[in-house]
Formats: sequence, C-alpha cells, structure tokens
Amino acid sequence: MRVGIDLVEHQDMEGRDARFIKRILTETEFNYFNQITNKKRRTEYLSSRFACKEAIFKCYQKGLAFKDITIVNEENGAPYALIYNKKVELQISLSHTDKYSVAIAILPSSDDD
Ligand SMILES: CC(C)(COP(=O)(O)OP(=O)(O)OC[C@H]1O[C@@H](n2cnc3c(N)ncnc32)[C@H](O)[C@@H]1OP(=O)(O)O)[C@@H](O)C(=O)NCCC(=O)NCCS
Repeated sequence: MRVGIDLVEHQDMEGRDARFIKRILTETEFNYFNQITNKKRRTEYLSSRFACKEAIFKCYQKGLAFKDITIVNEENGAPYALIYNKKVELQISLSHTDKYSVAIAILPSSDDD
C-alpha cells in the first residue's frame, strides 16, 4: 500500500494564467473549471486538483504527469481519479478551507508491496 498527501496554499494558485492551468488540468477538468463563475471556487477547484495530483504522484513515485490524471466527482460529490482515462483502484479525498486545499491518495497495492 502507498499513501500520498499534499497541501496547497490558495494564494499560490490565484491569478495563474491559462497556460499554467492547462498544464495542470485535463481537457475534461478545464471545461468544468471554465464553467465555474465564483472566483473562490475556481481557486479551490484548481488548488485541490493540483494537490490531489501531487498526492497521487507520491503514491506512484514516477512515470505520471499532471495531465495523465483526471479528478472527477460522483453525483453525490465524492471524488475519484481516472488515470489515462481509466478508473483506478486508488482512493482519494479532498478538503478545502478559505486558505488551503488538501488531498490524500491511497493506492491499495503497488509493485513494491
Ligand atoms: C461531503 C462533505 C463531507 C463535504 O465536507 P465539507 O466540510 O463541506 O467540505 P470539504 O472542503 O472538507 O470537502 C469538499 C470535498 O469533499 C469531497 N466530497 C464531496 N462530497 C463527498 C462525498 N459524498 N463523499 C466523499 N467526498 C465528498 C469533494 O472532493 C469536495 O471537493 P471538490 O468539490 O472540490 O471535489 C459534507 O458536505 C457532508 O458530510 N455531507 C453529508 C453527506 C452529503 O451531503 N452527501 C451528498 C449528498 S448529495
């Protein structure tokens, strides 16, 4: 089993340009992001996706890039991760405050188990 965690300060994500955002978000996420009109929610969304992908990198250690991962929400809001557009065994959870977003990822099995 592997665990990864990451914490992002919202102020580090505020005012980022489209070039940066497109390096982090997949097309599916970017389309969703563009429909968010509330500024705080946009920052929270970007920050939590950034944090979650960093947490997932910590589980896998190598070989993944930001845009290999898409974070999607179930109808009830629960998030899950797609890697190369496929649902994976990975468990993720996100949380936000005014200033921070945190994400944790748990990979139940890995090559070095
Ligand atoms: C879902 C819930 C745990 C969110 O807690 P919160 O303190 O308001 O918000 P947090 O900042 O800690 O967490 C928000 C994140 O929780 C996650 N989340 C939302 N709903 C979730 C759920 N049902 N299960 C697990 N995770 C959930 C999402 O990733 C969300 O971030 P995102 O929208 O950017 O993806 C809280 O609203 C709750 O307990 N609700 C009761 C259950 C509920 O309402 N279910 C939905 C019915 S439609």
